[in-house]
Amino acid sequence: MKHTDILEFAPDFQRASAFFKAQENYAVSPMQQLQGPDGHSFWAKDETTRMGLGAFKALGAPYAVARLLGEAWFAKTGETLTPARFKDADVRSLAQTQTFVCASAGNHGLGVAAGAREVGAKSRIHLARTVPENFAERLCALGAEVVWSGDVYDESVAAAIADAKRTGATLLADGTWPGYTEIPKWVMEGYCVIAEELRASFEASGNWPTHVYLQAGVGGLAAAMAHMIRLNWTAQPDLIVVEPEAAACLKASHEAGKAARSDGPDSNMGRLDCKEPSIVAWRVLERCNVTYQTLSEEDGAAAAKAMTELGIATTPSGAAGFGALCTQLPDIATGRDFLPLVIISEGPA
Ligand SMILES: Cc1ncc(COP(=O)(O)O)c(C=O)c1O
Repeated sequence: MKHTDILEFAPDFQRASAFFKAQENYAVSPMQQLQGPDGHSFWAKDETTRMGLGAFKALGAPYAVARLLGEAWFAKTGETLTPARFKDADVRSLAQTQTFVCASAGNHGLGVAAGAREVGAKSRIHLARTVPENFAERLCALGAEVVWSGDVYDESVAAAIADAKRTGATLLADGTWPGYTEIPKWVMEGYCVIAEELRASFEASGNWPTHVYLQAGVGGLAAAMAHMIRLNWTAQPDLIVVEPEAAACLKASHEAGKAARSDGPDSNMGRLDCKEPSIVAWRVLERCNVTYQTLSEEDGAAAAKAMTELGIATTPSGAAGFGALCTQLPDIATGRDFLPLVIISEGPA
């Protein structure tokens, strides 16, 4: 396979939508129009209650777990696994032999743990010291084994890779790097459901956003959204990728013209505190005509407070897109239609 093929992202988003529509706990996440600073209206897509996990990541890893189990089932029986079969004893006994391993800044691990538990498989999640303790508690409650690995996110990623190699468990990462791209693309395929929900809503109302702010860690969410928006939205908005100043690896990659690290202090936007981009996500963003914006720690904290006061309780990571919008407002040219959309990507712990 050529290098370019490995980085290609052509998600089967209809498959992901069909998968979730068959899940009992799936519902379209709410969206509302709010009045922001300076009285501007904006759309807020609220992912804070998504499928009982409290973050959009509930759409990524559980879907990838199901696809991986489907592949294992096909390899064993030659049959295609339909969602209706997931509860059957023969499928569950195959799932019980599977362990999914990942590193996480919090929410991806919850997705892996929930997805594994749903099908009857095991999960083991590597957390860096910077991850809040309550994520570990929530992971354990979902039946995951938690391993504290390293001081920073990168070190927990290395530990998860080594774990999978040593134990034969399946590595289910949300980042991509040379030689490891396919499974994270399925995670991103799951996130495409958010863009499809939004498209359906905007098609119905005709009230399309002019700007979409996408907060990024490794870039999986932003890339899935950007890909879908450029693919099939009737009205094309400006796309702004938002990263903490302390971890602006996608912006650094854009400036370098190749995937690049961006080192810095720990960020209080912990779920966005990724110093190395997903190479697939970065490549997608580069072809989607996005701009990159960074957010200071103070602006991230202020955005979380302001959004919580507006009625959607969230964190600096969850409100980062809104934070970028607030800092950009003074520069928005008057006379142009301006109806931004932000995604509130997680609730408070
Ligand atoms: C709440 C929240 N927002 C945004 C992101 C960024 O997603 P990605 O790492 O795919 O860029 C994450 C990732 O963990 C997250 O948990």
